[in-house]
Amino acid sequence: MSGASGHHRVRLTDLHPSTDAIADELRQGLQADPKWLPSKYFYDAIGSALFEQICAAPEYYLTRSECSILQTQAAAIGAAIGSGVLVVEYGSGSGVKTQLLLQALPAAVAYAPVEISRAALLASVAELSALLPTLEMLPVCGDFTQTFVVPQPQRPAQRTLIFFPGSTIGNFAQPEAIALLAQMRREMGANGAALVGIDLQKDPKVIEAAYNDAAGVTARFTLNLLARLNRELGSNFDLQRFRHRAVYNRQTERIETDLVSVIAQTVLVDGCAIAFAADEAIRVEISCKYSLHGFGQMAAQAGLALQQSWTDSAQNFALVLLKPLASLA
Ligand code: AVI
Repeated sequence: MSGASGHHRVRLTDLHPSTDAIADELRQGLQADPKWLPSKYFYDAIGSALFEQICAAPEYYLTRSECSILQTQAAAIGAAIGSGVLVVEYGSGSGVKTQLLLQALPAAVAYAPVEISRAALLASVAELSALLPTLEMLPVCGDFTQTFVVPQPQRPAQRTLIFFPGSTIGNFAQPEAIALLAQMRREMGANGAALVGIDLQKDPKVIEAAYNDAAGVTARFTLNLLARLNRELGSNFDLQRFRHRAVYNRQTERIETDLVSVIAQTVLVDGCAIAFAADEAIRVEISCKYSLHGFGQMAAQAGLALQQSWTDSAQNFALVLLKPLASLA
């Protein structure tokens, strides 16, 4: 499905997948061995509100660290990216970060957020339009992991910058992360760039605390995925019979988040009976943690060179600037 609407400064491209395609993907994950569900489905209205609460939780250092980089290094980041840019953001749940970046960029031409949730997309565009009334808005309602044509601004841009903050790249296993970086490389063009937020490796206790906050917001966030299936697929998950588990795996250098069946049980999902053994897990998310060197090596496999990076004072988090490798440009 595709279409366009809006007035002269906001032009919406609608590529939202069908409800049937989403239901198929979710059912297939639950029928797989081991079971899994894509973490992108965390973000319905309730999940997005819970994620905002996670970002403010004392243990979840990621958001504060990334915002402090954007605040304290705005001038250097703006200078490295340059003027007359079309900013394409993968996801649009990061209003504060977007504002900080757009304020740091000299004379950005247009902003194109790509977001699966139409409500979140339109809300963020409305908020940014009020703050930056002269910036052209080109929202794309769709899954940023699927290839799409970047909408072109009325006033030609000098280059395209892909903005992918939050360490959301860490929610993809290496092959998918490389594929996504390669897609960015194609979308940015030969003289474009990407600014990507990555969570850095550190004491595993600090990382585990961030995904197991004492107030239990992260547990409510992951369990909301099952509540969402109940609401939207008519399944009958009993949320008391599943528990949140997030553990740092030192071999794979990532947080692995599961929803664990507390007892043996059978759940009905969209007409299919799904059997769970006691302690059986559904993998719902991975959050990879990187070294700058390791991330640079991964980006190189996608034809991108790590040009520059900025970290916060505690070295918790980094924003990295990627450009096409000269040999492939
Ligand atoms: C969006 N993403 C980068 C978050 C993360 O840290 O992996 C999602 C999240 N899951 C639990 N807490 C936060």
